[in-house]
Amino acid sequence: MAEIVCIIGNKGGTGKTTLSHMLCQGLGLLGQRAVCVLTDTHREPLDPEGRRYLVADARTREALGKVVDKIQALKGWLGVIDGGGNRSEMDRKLYSLASVVLLPFRDSHEDIRTVIQDLETFPRAWAIPSQWPTNPWQQEAAEKTIREQLGKYADRLLPPINTLSASKLLLQTNIPDKLPTPLGNACRALAYQVLDMLEIACEAPAEEIEDEVGGESRHGTAVSPAAEAFDPAAGIDVPGPVRH
Ligand SMILES: Nc1ncnc2c1ncn2[C@@H]1O[C@H](COP(=O)(O)OP(=O)(O)OP(=O)(O)O)[C@@H](O)[C@H]1O
Ligand SMILES: [Mg+2]
Repeated sequence: MAEIVCIIGNKGGTGKTTLSHMLCQGLGLLGQRAVCVLTDTHREPLDPEGRRYLVADARTREALGKVVDKIQALKGWLGVIDGGGNRSEMDRKLYSLASVVLLPFRDSHEDIRTVIQDLETFPRAWAIPSQWPTNPWQQEAAEKTIREQLGKYADRLLPPINTLSASKLLLQTNIPDKLPTPLGNACRALAYQVLDMLEIACEAPAEEIEDEVGGESRHGTAVSPAAEAFDPAAGIDVPGPVRH
């Protein structure tokens, strides 16, 4: 059975959608087949062309049921469900479906207050610092805030996802031909972390050094699933990687 990861949280703008796409892109770069599932009625589906993962539109309850059934029947695939924010009932449903649950939060008191509530509500969920400062002084202050306010949950905190302006490229309807190397590296590191949590064997990603062109091609040797929208009615029969 395929694994489901969901990215939820009762606060808007924490980075759920960005993280969902970064994770799927990273999974594709690591050779894992993934589907990014949209549940947010405020967003439009993105063009799957050129991505290393499929996209599925599950903005209605009925479509979500179908998409989840479809993913669960696909051996070796991973479904990453992007929650919508401020939708507690949907979050509870997604939580019940998922093997790994991520709660992104930013370096703000409001986000931290909300993520604490979500950590209490969802005892299997992991908090993941998102849009994290890269400036050393800001980083130090953010770490101090985490120690002080999230100390009790230290064993449920994942390494941060840094602020990376290129991450917005993945949220464009059509992604560019070349994606910046630092984005690929961040996507791979996140995907590796999640595969480890799911106990899916995978070789540790090597950091890519930026080449002269300044990016990695979206077309490459790693998995590039069929460039088509994920259609729960259609069959996708592709063997997955070895699982342990
Ligand atoms: N790692 C990052 N680096 C830089 N910008 C980021 C990062 N993650 C998210 N952002 C930006 O922050 C904003 C909110 O991100 P995103 O849409 O992913 O959040 P969300 O939790 O899905 O929001 P919503 O609750 O509205 O669905 C976007 O403008 C996005 O580009
Ligand atoms: Mg979103």
